Amino acid sequence: MGHCNCLILAALIYVASTQFIPPFTEDCRAEMYPPKGPTFKGAVSWYTVDLDLPPSKRWTALITDKKADLVSVIQAIKDLANAFVPSGRLIELVDITLPLMVDTLPNPYGDEIKGIAAVSGVPLGEVVLFNIFYEVFTVCTSVVAEDDKGNLLHGRNLDFGLFMGWDVKNKSWIISEKLKPLVVNLDFKRNNQTVFKSTNFAGYVGMLTGIKPHIFTLTMNERFSLDGGYIGILEWILGKRDGMWMSFLTRSVLENANSYEEAKALLAQTKLLAPAYFILGGNQTGQGCIITRSRLLSIDILEIDLKLGRWYVLETNYDHWKEPLFLDDRRTPAMKCMNQTLQKNISLKTMYDVLSTKPVLNKLTTYTTLMQVSEGKLESYIRDCPNPCMPW
Ligand SMILES: *[C@@H]1O[C@H](CO)[C@@H](O)[C@H](O)[C@H]1NC(C)=O
Ligand SMILES: *[C@@H]1O[C@H](CO)[C@@H](O)[C@H](O)[C@H]1NC(C)=O
Ligand SMILES: *[C@@H]1O[C@H](CO)[C@@H](O)[C@H](O)[C@H]1NC(C)=O
Ligand SMILES: *[C@@H]1O[C@H](CO)[C@@H](O)[C@H](O)[C@H]1NC(C)=O
Ligand SMILES: *[C@@H]1O[C@H](CO)[C@@H](O)[C@H](O)[C@H]1NC(C)=O
Repeated sequence: MGHCNCLILAALIYVASTQFIPPFTEDCRAEMYPPKGPTFKGAVSWYTVDLDLPPSKRWTALITDKKADLVSVIQAIKDLANAFVPSGRLIELVDITLPLMVDTLPNPYGDEIKGIAAVSGVPLGEVVLFNIFYEVFTVCTSVVAEDDKGNLLHGRNLDFGLFMGWDVKNKSWIISEKLKPLVVNLDFKRNNQTVFKSTNFAGYVGMLTGIKPHIFTLTMNERFSLDGGYIGILEWILGKRDGMWMSFLTRSVLENANSYEEAKALLAQTKLLAPAYFILGGNQTGQGCIITRSRLLSIDILEIDLKLGRWYVLETNYDHWKEPLFLDDRRTPAMKCMNQTLQKNISLKTMYDVLSTKPVLNKLTTYTTLMQVSEGKLESYIRDCPNPCMPW
């Protein structure tokens, strides 16, 4: 435990104090696909985002549909903040300070966020808060694999809501549960043609999971580090604004990069507000990598290398050359299941099995997304992890 895992440890101590936690692991799952049963909570609906519209109008249709769910999750976040700072001062600060911040965000993001606030009726500062706290509380599993025909497959579990209020009675995370109705698939179009597709939370304008059909697939995972997100975000608020928000970079790459190599260079070289892992898949043999980022630069790039027998790369929230935190090892079970599957049997179907195995599937898992670049396919599923199940 050389580096700082304070966040995970804090969450652990909090939850452990509310209940006893056995290691809820299980044998690699099989025959989970098509998704069904208690780990499948529901399908995800599609919306179009028209990039030819002015930024303030792009999200109107989606937010009109999802308004009640968005208001409900933001209320839950406010309740948590008020429980934490009972004077109500924290939310007061959010309502006063964060609206000013929206004009410091690069466009089109600032204008899109203003549009979302206008349509939803949620105060602007609270929509800004909703758009920045993902940068801090996300733990995930992502994998890019190459099958024996040279197809690149990309899967991810998005695990969100770490220490966002543990519901002792339900044994669930309050915010993770409230986010599930906000999960949507988005088709971003220009000139009536798809530019990229994404799985996202309604109300959030950055990207964590997406595909540029036939070209590349991309997911982002949080990297906990001493030089973490808080410092960069604080610097941003204080006026030092030369780094890029991670999920805005992901979106900008999906929107603008036109090849695996171009995407890789942008993800490796753009200065960021916080460390991150980018998991990128291309459209040709050997094109799959994990980019481990510090705020300034790429520290390491691990690529698929068939000659070395490395037919997949897999990332959770730890540097691949280090051991994961022993209390939060999703990497070993996920790799064990990938290894058992074998390259000749990997497909979106068997990848879903891997991503359905506890603790790769856990109480934070809100959705699973599967992408196949050669078919331009993105599909996603809302998940549940019935007891007994690891809180993370
Ligand atoms: C807890 O579970 C009960 C019954 O299953 C449900 O009605 C309630 O909405 C749940 N609460 C949360 C916060 O998920
Ligand atoms: C957009 O494309 C769809 C098919 O993808 C077509 O049905 C529709 O008419 C097009 N709309 C416009 C305005 O061109
Ligand atoms: C793969 O991506 C490149 C752009 O990097 C593109 O030119 C090529 O057509 C794509 N190949 C396939 C099979 O779609
Ligand atoms: C999976 O296979 C790789 C490559 O052979 C190996 O390095 C790794 O230790 C294996 N991991 C597990 C958990 O079986
Ligand atoms: C791989 O797939 C074949 C059929 O294509 C099946 O017979 C075999 O049991 C599978 N292997 C594993 C490890 O799942």
